[in-house]
Amino acid sequence: MKRWYYILYPMRAYVVTSSHGGKIGAMTAAWVMPTSIDPPMLVVAIAPRRYTYTLIRMSGEFAVNVFEYKYMREVYYLGSVSGWDEPKKVEKSGLHLKPGRSVGAPVFEEAHAVAECKVENIVPAGDHDLVVGRVVDYYYKPPLGEGRPDVSRFKALIHVGGSHFTTTIGESRSARSG
Ligand SMILES: Cc1cc2nc3c(=O)[nH]c(=O)nc-3n(C[C@H](O)[C@H](O)[C@H](O)COP(=O)(O)O)c2cc1C
Repeated sequence: MKRWYYILYPMRAYVVTSSHGGKIGAMTAAWVMPTSIDPPMLVVAIAPRRYTYTLIRMSGEFAVNVFEYKYMREVYYLGSVSGWDEPKKVEKSGLHLKPGRSVGAPVFEEAHAVAECKVENIVPAGDHDLVVGRVVDYYYKPPLGEGRPDVSRFKALIHVGGSHFTTTIGESRSARSG
């Protein structure tokens, strides 16, 4: 039963950022989906033990950062080290933060798109909580936009499982290898 959820894979991988009292959290999250078009809302399933979860709870704000496949190692790093153990996690990821436009949560310069959210609700759902966010601002770099993305130009970052990722051309290799 332990890994039953892999029947739902592969899944896109994103990075959730938050900040409170000068502390910054950034964690990889694959369990992300829209829940409402209007009002714009999405949900992220986050385990309460995550450092980023604590900052989201305290600030009531977070951002979902969309990355391309070429950032798989950085995104994998943010998903395998905790801010509870590594205070310099973001610096060590090699990625760069900038202030959010409409929320206190920072966002990544390297992100291809960002959804800035205010927490609408947090719903217990087993060993993860559903963190429901209202999207108060969003922005993107082409070819992402408000229509279908041109997947010949946008290489989505897709989590296959463990340290493996693939993209829209179907390649899969380990973030741990050379
Ligand atoms: C590809 C990938 C996807 C992940 N998806 C989730 C997720 O959806 N929800 C979650 O709670 N943790 C997820 N994790 C685990 C967290 O990112 C990981 O525990 C991270 O170290 C938490 O960081 P923090 O404690 O600094 O917040 C994922 C990890 C990886 C590598």
